[in-house]
Amino acid sequence: MIENIRTQIKQTSEQKYQAEFSRLKEQDQHRKPAGWQLSAYAVRSFILGDDKLNIQKKFYGDDALVDRALVTLMGNQGLMLVGEPGTAKSMLSELFSAAISGNSQLTIQGTAGTTEDHIKYSWNYALLLSEGPTDKSLIPSPLFHAMKNGQLARFEEITRCPPEIQDVLVSLLSEKQMMIPEMGQDFSLQAMQGFNIIATANLRDRGVHEMSAALKRRFNFETVKPIANRQFEIELVGLQLKQQLAQLYSEIHIRPEVIELLVTVFNELRTGQSLQGASLKTPDAVMSTAEAVNIAHAASLQAIYLSDGKLQAGHIAQQLIGVVFKDNPDDAKRMRYYLDTVVKERARKDSDWKAFFDASREF
Ligand SMILES: Nc1ncnc2c1ncn2[C@@H]1O[C@H](COP(=O)(O)OP(=O)(O)O)[C@@H](O)[C@H]1O
Ligand SMILES: [Mg+2]
Repeated sequence: MIENIRTQIKQTSEQKYQAEFSRLKEQDQHRKPAGWQLSAYAVRSFILGDDKLNIQKKFYGDDALVDRALVTLMGNQGLMLVGEPGTAKSMLSELFSAAISGNSQLTIQGTAGTTEDHIKYSWNYALLLSEGPTDKSLIPSPLFHAMKNGQLARFEEITRCPPEIQDVLVSLLSEKQMMIPEMGQDFSLQAMQGFNIIATANLRDRGVHEMSAALKRRFNFETVKPIANRQFEIELVGLQLKQQLAQLYSEIHIRPEVIELLVTVFNELRTGQSLQGASLKTPDAVMSTAEAVNIAHAASLQAIYLSDGKLQAGHIAQQLIGVVFKDNPDDAKRMRYYLDTVVKERARKDSDWKAFFDASREF
């Protein structure tokens, strides 16, 4: 009988890595920047892994980016992570803020409806009427909290906000203070050391180019690229699938060849080139590592709940083609071409590729 344990769907990084943080804190001999919980060395180990302290590697592919980001966060500029969807921008920003400030939850999610109040503060109107503009009637934004307590604030998908709202950040970042005119003409909140902003922006959203020059100057930009190393990507997908399946992982049998096939398909479609060098058309669909993990996860659920608990390349094909390509006729054509050339050829010699090809014929 398979038991049913319910847990929180997603833990924050500070909950999830509590044990790692205490080991790192205990061993941390290096000097900490003002307002930081850990030294930059320790934050680096937390993100890139440390075998001696049994710290798991979390970000793959670009160690130097992590060092540059740390230097930015110590300084006066904000950190802007830009890139294709699914390249771990949000993950990095969560890991940095958990490690540096012990809090990854001071987050503003940028949308077309984001207002200045979401960025600064708003009022509890009942209290405002009875008490006037006091500390009690003011409702602080996550950014307000971060300034007050000297922590990192996260601004997700910043380019989805209207430009004039983005520009509210300009003065916050340059003056490191927030004016609160309701409390008095010169009244302001002064940011404590340790405060900074990590913003993320997807290159697929229009808008990165429309960001004002003034705002761009307040940030150091880092482009996060998809993982280029196939071996890394295979390792990562396997690892993350295991994490996502959690206790279900023991219910499923996964052969490494199936994960390798999945990563190969993603890699070839993303780069527009087969491993043998044939050129392909890249689909509009996002072919990120994160998406590969999602497909593997969905295929695993299918294998567990609707099949015999063995993950097959056919399950992958059904999820990938059914979910990702069905709704976009152009993508479906590009996929068909890939299947009828690259995949068909491999299917002659390899049973996993054959299973993948056979399952794809239904679409
Ligand atoms: N280079 C990478 N290293 C580690 N994990 C990665 C990498 N690229 C993608 N991922 C995985 O993709 C997931 C989704 O990334 P996310 O941070 O939501 O992407 P983004 O914000 O860039 O759209 C991450 O949580 C992580 O599991
Ligand atoms: Mg994101």
